[in-house]
Amino acid sequence: MKILVTGATGFVGPTFVHLFNRTGYQVSVLTRSMMTTKTKTVSYINWDAETPGVWEKEVDGADAIINLTGEPVAQKWDPVTKNKILESRVKATKALVNAIEKAKHKPKVFVNASAIGYYGSRNGETLDETSTKGQGFLSDVCAEWEAEARKAEDFGVRTVLLRIGIVLEREGGALSKLIPAFKRFIGGPLGSGNQWVSWIHRDDLIDLMANILTNKEASGVINATAPYPVTMNELAKTLGQVMGRPSFMKVPGFVLKAKMGEMAQEMLLTGQKVLPKKAEEIGFQFSYPDLPLALRAIFGQEGLKKHKRH
Ligand SMILES: NC(=O)c1ccc[n+]([C@@H]2O[C@H](COP(=O)([O-])OP(=O)(O)OC[C@H]3O[C@@H](n4cnc5c(N)ncnc54)[C@H](OP(=O)(O)O)[C@@H]3O)[C@@H](O)[C@H]2O)c1
Repeated sequence: MKILVTGATGFVGPTFVHLFNRTGYQVSVLTRSMMTTKTKTVSYINWDAETPGVWEKEVDGADAIINLTGEPVAQKWDPVTKNKILESRVKATKALVNAIEKAKHKPKVFVNASAIGYYGSRNGETLDETSTKGQGFLSDVCAEWEAEARKAEDFGVRTVLLRIGIVLEREGGALSKLIPAFKRFIGGPLGSGNQWVSWIHRDDLIDLMANILTNKEASGVINATAPYPVTMNELAKTLGQVMGRPSFMKVPGFVLKAKMGEMAQEMLLTGQKVLPKKAEEIGFQFSYPDLPLALRAIFGQEGLKKHKRH
């Protein structure tokens, strides 16, 4: 099986590439980076979503395509950044679908990243894949991004729109931003603490993506979130317990809004309680369904000792 991955040099992608490389699949990575190297099983090929080129040959003949490309969203949003966040996703997806259209040998499956930001800020509601679109910038970005990806269905390709929750692992994503304050004994919830946080352990996300590649029942929207979302208060408390640190130092909402503006309002101070109904229906089993289990696995005994020494 030949797998083509874009956006694979960030936080999520390398683990996926490593897993499939290890298990003997042929993996090609499309990257904006100029390095075009090749190991026995992984090829890195330069691409620019705005320019058709040799990279399109990689689409022709790939059995599966995973699209993870996107300008990071966890940064202050100004008009330029907002445009980058939207355009980087929509243009890459459009370019891939165009290449799929041209390909003689079309992929069997196209997995496009999206995010639970699609549902907007919906505290108090329990959401699944049938829930309606929300309001706000991220929701609009996800809707536009998903609409481009869905066009692959016109060419008979099984298409999955993976609405990913907050991905947890130590060396990147949300946890890497929270850990320093906890290490310094000043960790705590952001804002009111009552907002829902729908999270997923990175290993479960990778396993779910792997399952989707071969599971023909997987198509359309699939929420990639653990079965037990938590409130921000619970997240801070559990993180504090696992790290052996206090967790009561709340960061007031107005401080985050002053520093990070609209991004703080949409991504940090409000949230959504999202359930992985479809993933469970297609038989996916989470290794880390609840937060204490996930965080204990992430930090482990060795990790705890390391934190205590610093
Ligand atoms: N991490 C999370 O908690 C989370 C949650 C929900 C959804 N997601 C989505 O899942 C996908 C993967 O997440 P991630 O955390 O691994 O992402 P990431 O590390 O922020 O970036 C993924 C890749 O996107 C490419 N990229 C970055 N900026 C770009 C730009 N301006 N234009 C074009 N390409 C750009 C880069 O690949 P190259 O430089 O190799 O081209 C980068 O390695 C993203 O689309 C993200 O929105 C992530």
